[in-house]
Order: sequence, then C-alpha cells, then structure tokens
Amino acid sequence: MSQLASRRIVLGVSGGIAAYKSVELCRQLVDLGAHVVPVMTADAHRFIGPVTLSALASEPVHTSLWDDASAIPHTQLGQTADIIVVAPATARVLSAYATGSSEDLLTATLIATRAPVVVCPAMHTEMWEHPAVQSNIEILRSRGVHIVEPETGRLAGGDIGAGRLASTEKICAEIIRVLGMSHDLLGLDIVVTAGGTREPIDAVRVIANRSSGKQGYAIATIAAQRGAHVTLITTVDRVVPSGVTQVQVETAQQMKDAVDAAALSADVVIMAAAVADFRPVVCADQKLKKADGVPNIVLEPTPDILAGLGQRKPLGQTLVGFAAETDSLVAHATAKLSAKCLDLIVANDVSAEGVGFGHDTNAVVLLSPHMPAMTVALADKHAIAHAVLDSVVKVRHQQQESK
Ligand code: C5P
Repeated sequence: MSQLASRRIVLGVSGGIAAYKSVELCRQLVDLGAHVVPVMTADAHRFIGPVTLSALASEPVHTSLWDDASAIPHTQLGQTADIIVVAPATARVLSAYATGSSEDLLTATLIATRAPVVVCPAMHTEMWEHPAVQSNIEILRSRGVHIVEPETGRLAGGDIGAGRLASTEKICAEIIRVLGMSHDLLGLDIVVTAGGTREPIDAVRVIANRSSGKQGYAIATIAAQRGAHVTLITTVDRVVPSGVTQVQVETAQQMKDAVDAAALSADVVIMAAAVADFRPVVCADQKLKKADGVPNIVLEPTPDILAGLGQRKPLGQTLVGFAAETDSLVAHATAKLSAKCLDLIVANDVSAEGVGFGHDTNAVVLLSPHMPAMTVALADKHAIAHAVLDSVVKVRHQQQESK
C-alpha cells in the first residue's frame, strides 16, 4: 500500500499524554509511503523521546526555530509540506494557531504554510468543551483547517469522556481524503459571491437581508484549497480566505458589475449571495426625517445577475445558483434551474433547523440537468462546500462529454 507515496507530511506533535500515539501514527504514515517530517514542541519532549520519532520518521525531529540546520526552518517546513498534521493538538497549540501567534517552531510553521492542515485535538473533557477551545476550533474550521474531532473514551487519570485522540486509522483516512482532493480544481478560474446585498434608502438606511456570507466564504476557501484560482465578490467583511482575491461590493448593481466583469474569463460562477430582488427607485441624499412622516419608498426590481449570465453563457462555463426556499423546495429550485439556464442549483430549505442564513451548518439538495439529484444532510458549511464542488467537478465532466 503506497497511498501516500512521495507525499511530504509535516507531523506536529504537541505536549499532551496522547503524544505517545503519534509514534504509531508516524509509523503508519511511513508505511503508507509518506515522507514524514516530525516537529515536536518543547512540552512534547516530556511525553516521548525525540529519538523514538526520529528513528521511525523519514528524517530527524525538528524542534527549535533556532537550532535547525536551515536558517528559517518554519518557512522551509511550511513551503515544502504537502500537508501538515498536528496530532495531538493541545489547547495551547489550538489557541496559538487560531490567533496567529508564532511562539515556537510548530506554531510558526502552521502560519507559514499554504498547505492544507489537519488538526487532531486531544485533551481532558472539561478543556475540550470549554467555550474558548470550541471558539478556537470554529475559527480554524472557518479558515478551512480540517479538524479530526476527538473521540469519547478513557482519558488519562481514568476519567471517561470526550477528548481522546481520534484513532490512527481515522487520522490517516482524513489525510488521504484531504490530499486526494487537494488539486482537483487546479487551473480553474472560479467566481464565488457571498453575503446579502444592501440597497440604500437614504444616507443611513438600507434594505438588507439575513445572509451571513458563511456558505459563500466556505466555498471560496475550499475551492482555493482544491487548487482553483478564486475571485470572491462579497458584501460582508470576513477574513479573506488564503489564496483568494476578494472584491468588496454593497448593492445588487455593484455585485452585477463585478460579477459580469469576472465572469468573462471564469470557468465556474457560483452565486451563493442573497441578492435583493427589489431596491428603492431613489436614494435620498440626506437621512429621511421622522418628523416628515412615514416615507413612501417606491421599489423597483434589481437586475437578476444569474439570469443574465445564463442568457449569455460562454461554451464550457458552469453556472451554479442557490435557491433558498421555505416550501416546495425541489419544485421551486427545479423551476429556477431551467429559468436561469443553470448547470447546478443548490437548494436549501431555510425554514429547517440549522439550515441556511447565519448558521454554521446547512443541508442541501443538489439539482442539475447533468447528474441525478443529490441530498446532503445537515453538515458544517465547509462539508457542504465540498459536496457542491464535487458536483461542479461531475457536472463539468458531463458538460465536456456532451460537447
Ligand atoms: O430567484 P432567486 O432570487 O431565488 O434565485 C436565487 C439565485 O439567483 C441565487 O443564486 C442568487 O445569487 C441569484 N440572484 C441573482 N440576482 C438577483 C437575484 C438572485 O443573481 N437579482
């Protein structure tokens, strides 16, 4: 078995009791053909001897920012890695990584890389469930870091609960999965929109909607990780995902101008944004005064960006729309799929628990004239992003077959 042949894996080991399990993980990765570069924190040395890891890995343990043969070991390790795996990841390492603090070789390497990162936390249940730790996990997840959650079982000291390092098999499977998909979008130019548009009423007021932009950002993050060149056109001001070009807009018209320009050379356009359907005909220069009574705000339709793209779609381009519905999900989404000449539509029932606007999770049905319908059950928006992009790959394959 050489599923990881010639893949360079930086294996970060931090100072928790589960550090002893990293020895087995290291051996397994080497058996799968990987070149394993071990990096230990100072505290990890209290749990296992560096000689053990050095003997089993593909090269000696790296520990210090200062004693290494390389003058800048963290950038060298980060730039040459195909993937970085931290197992076990302690609460301290999660915190340093989430805040971007480069206090030792491992944390410096984590923020000096563009390679995908798999983090495998292990700690006592109370620590794992603490809001500070959970918030760091959410920050890392939102940046596209892959988290292999700890399992429930016997912990150090005999306690039983959540916090035990995931099994070696599970960690290896995740590494193989992440590496396998990491470049299937290489060379594709993908435009993603995110957030809800804001249509001005006067100098201070807008008509807005509840879109958080989380799903669009997750798609942009994952598409970039899978090798695409991504332009993200957004109304929200979230952290720009690594490797993504961000264009900030506010209104439907501004979004249309930016999308139309970017779509000219795009292979794929994914309209995840919630674009206003109506806008005020006029925007008052000054704030409307309460004393002047209830204003008469006259609305007009906004341009339908996606429908416009559908009408003049260049050969080979893949157009993806979203349909946020509260009833007859599949019927409404199917109608939009054909009305807007789309290749794929991502339908979600926004009235369901944990689905759609503002949540970190989503549940969708993927509909396309090029593939059978697919239901994706409630999952983190990054997992949904993977499912959407998997379908884009399938749809493009079919589009190319039928050319
Ligand atoms: O028709 P409906 O607004 O439900 O369609 C949703 C899809 O169309 C989304 O992908 C959204 O981004 C896109 N849309 C658009 N321009 C509009 C309205 C919606 O591109 N004015």
